[in-house]
Amino acid sequence: MVEFIPKRWFNIIPKLPKPLPPPRDPEIDRSSIEILNRILPEEVLKHQFTVEEYVDIPSEVVDAYRAFGRPTPLLRATKLEERLSTPARIYFKFEGALPTGSHKLNAAIPQTYYALKEGNSEVVTETGAGQWGAAVALSSSYFGLRSVVFMVRSSYMQKPQRRQLMELYGSTVNPSPSDLTKVGMRELKEGNVSGSLATAMGEAVEYALDRGAKYMVGSVLDVVLMYQSVIGQETIKQLEVLDVEPDVLVGCVGGGSNFAGFTYPIINSFPDKEYVAVGASEIPKFSMGVYRYDYPDSARILPLLKMITLGVDYRPPPIYSGGLRYHGVAPSLSVLITEGVVKAAEVDEREAIEAGRMFARLQGIVPALESAHAVAYVIKRALEAKEKNERINIVFNLSGHGLLELNNYTEVT
Ligand SMILES: Cc1ncc(COP(=O)(O)O)c(C=O)c1O
Repeated sequence: MVEFIPKRWFNIIPKLPKPLPPPRDPEIDRSSIEILNRILPEEVLKHQFTVEEYVDIPSEVVDAYRAFGRPTPLLRATKLEERLSTPARIYFKFEGALPTGSHKLNAAIPQTYYALKEGNSEVVTETGAGQWGAAVALSSSYFGLRSVVFMVRSSYMQKPQRRQLMELYGSTVNPSPSDLTKVGMRELKEGNVSGSLATAMGEAVEYALDRGAKYMVGSVLDVVLMYQSVIGQETIKQLEVLDVEPDVLVGCVGGGSNFAGFTYPIINSFPDKEYVAVGASEIPKFSMGVYRYDYPDSARILPLLKMITLGVDYRPPPIYSGGLRYHGVAPSLSVLITEGVVKAAEVDEREAIEAGRMFARLQGIVPALESAHAVAYVIKRALEAKEKNERINIVFNLSGHGLLELNNYTEVT
């Protein structure tokens, strides 16, 4: 049987219950929308503003998706069901099966492809713990591009394995702050040596502007959410084969890309199901955030977006789940939450670690801590189903594996 890989990306923007408020330029002397024009591949920028419901995926990108293992498996967590003695059935889409270990590759492949197709030879990005950087490093080497990654210096020192993975794929990885950019040198001079995602992003954008490299975006922007829609489209087909209709759909949320990629195509097919976006309670954007225009990046380089946000100056506590330490929620997901289509929940890190351990012991897969937040919610929901005797089908997105961050599990007892 030839396995299904989507040939089009799904874009939820024209189908939102309310029109998406457009990005805005901040009231300062430079246009950030103009900066986007200069640093993103043209096709990526076009897709960011498209109002088409479907966008064709170039055959070269479909080939790369296939080469790296798409479709990813949809598995059933039968041992977990047994342990919880729940009447609910639990299925999960396993994005950790991709070679870099997470869903991030789905959005890196098209961006690097368009950069190459438009005649560029180098791409640049920032990364925190390294999931996004590794995805850009691999897709760049696949298409024959040079890649440069600015990695937050504290992670660069503490998490050598992802740095080594990026270097193995051929990427040049710089600890940020670096002395390669004005942004980095200013931070170093001020004694901010451990760095932050905002500084790394500022360095990557400055590098792109100065050297003509194309900048690769990891989450939050609608175009990234659309590129992730392969996850949900595959899930629909895989559920069809199993003759299963989903009732509850769950995913974790940092900027929103894996949750959106997984759920948006399913929302389009089954609008009335229970959709749950799970954040970290230590970053209480769902419970305390406000829906307003804000900067998506603390470097204040990108245009203002209307989103649920804790404020760009919010300083997240140092939880292990680096991918969930983001102050905002992607604009389209913010609309779906404020309109009541998607429900939001929060889980704390201890619950996530316990759920991740339980999942690993029963199902063998060690979830990334970000994904373990979804697992923790699924366990709660399956126990609630037990109390109510609901024979429901719960499907969640396991966005990545945690094999390169095992210390996240071992350091907390
Ligand atoms: C494995 C994993 N899951 C989830 C996330 C959260 O990001 P997003 O909400 O964009 O999917 C990240 C971000 O780094 C991640 O690495």
